[in-house]
Amino acid sequence: MRNSSRSAVDPFIVMDVMEAARKAEEAGRRIIHMEVGQPGTGAPKGAMEALEKSLKADALGYTVSLGIPALRRRIAQLYGDWYGVDLNPERVVVTPGSSGGFLLAFTALFDSGDRVGIGAPGYPSYRQILRALGLVPVDLPTALENRLQPVPADFAGMDLAGLLVASPANPSGTMLDRAAMGALIDAAQAQGASFISDEIYHGLEYEAKAVTALELTDECYVINSFSKYFSMTGWRVGWMVVPEDQVRVVERIAQNMFICAPHASQVAALAALECEPELQANLEVYKTNRKLMLEGLPKAGFTRIAPPDGAFYVYADVSDLTDDSRDFAAEILDKAGVAVTPGLDFDPVRGGGTLRFSYARATADIEEGLARLAQFMAARAPAD
Ligand SMILES: Cc1ncc(COP(=O)(O)O)c(C=O)c1O
Repeated sequence: MRNSSRSAVDPFIVMDVMEAARKAEEAGRRIIHMEVGQPGTGAPKGAMEALEKSLKADALGYTVSLGIPALRRRIAQLYGDWYGVDLNPERVVVTPGSSGGFLLAFTALFDSGDRVGIGAPGYPSYRQILRALGLVPVDLPTALENRLQPVPADFAGMDLAGLLVASPANPSGTMLDRAAMGALIDAAQAQGASFISDEIYHGLEYEAKAVTALELTDECYVINSFSKYFSMTGWRVGWMVVPEDQVRVVERIAQNMFICAPHASQVAALAALECEPELQANLEVYKTNRKLMLEGLPKAGFTRIAPPDGAFYVYADVSDLTDDSRDFAAEILDKAGVAVTPGLDFDPVRGGGTLRFSYARATADIEEGLARLAQFMAARAPAD
């Protein structure tokens, strides 16, 4: 059968790494997972208990498309608790993960052929989802001195229909402070570009609190998820906050594309919002892991790294070691039994010289992974 040209998107390379790691495990090897962008922990206990009760009492059929009203209200309350923003719950749309949010946002905001700016390096699926919808992703190569985040000069005069930013970002973990976020919003709006803020890593911050775009403007789409801080990747539940006059537009698309986010996951998500102590305990593990990584990676020979502000990744410049990060990642998996993500996933141009290390797993795994990486690098070093 004939395929659409829109369907010719690139694979998510990290998924291929995960598959190679799975095969190695099937063959009996113990692999340390520094490739996956997901917590090693499951959903918080309170979420499981709430779901258990609900399974006995409820048929868990469709919910209304915008999401269970109590969940929308509770998410709105989070904006008060976390940022001091008074948010109308009517503006909250519950989505099938933030991935579902991107589909809704891009469909609601853009026409075929519209150009949407995304920072490079950045989360790979932005580019592929845009392409699959007949939109044109415009990579904005970011600079080290801007901590790998876009700045207004990067898209001046580009006539973009949209600008999508992430803070904390994947893979760099860097954040936009209030001034940097504000400058991007102003520059995007001056160009007539819709501003979309991916805030999926909020709650996972190490130095300063992340800024939500909603502190600065109501004229934006904010996308978030229960996948990361709330440790619920497989539950496929997230949310968007959209301007009041966009709610009905998004609702109509959601009704037709998804009907609703999974009902069971919405029940669990509502309870997860009350599980602060457990989620903060997870954060403490990431803090410990981050410290270990920042000490251990340079010792192992991965010296070109910057401390991440948030999320659970370290993005390393390995261009002194390789120009083929895919090949290098395969070598690390084969020889050290450590799965890492090639930078090509995040930056098709410069990513041949970068790797992303995730520290989302248990501390014992991070220790073991770092020891293996050190051994691998010592054996690799050319003898003089
Ligand atoms: C920056 C960023 N946005 C969005 C997603 C998608 O997350 P989900 O669909 O699980 O909410 C990810 C997943 O790793 C991510 O790193």
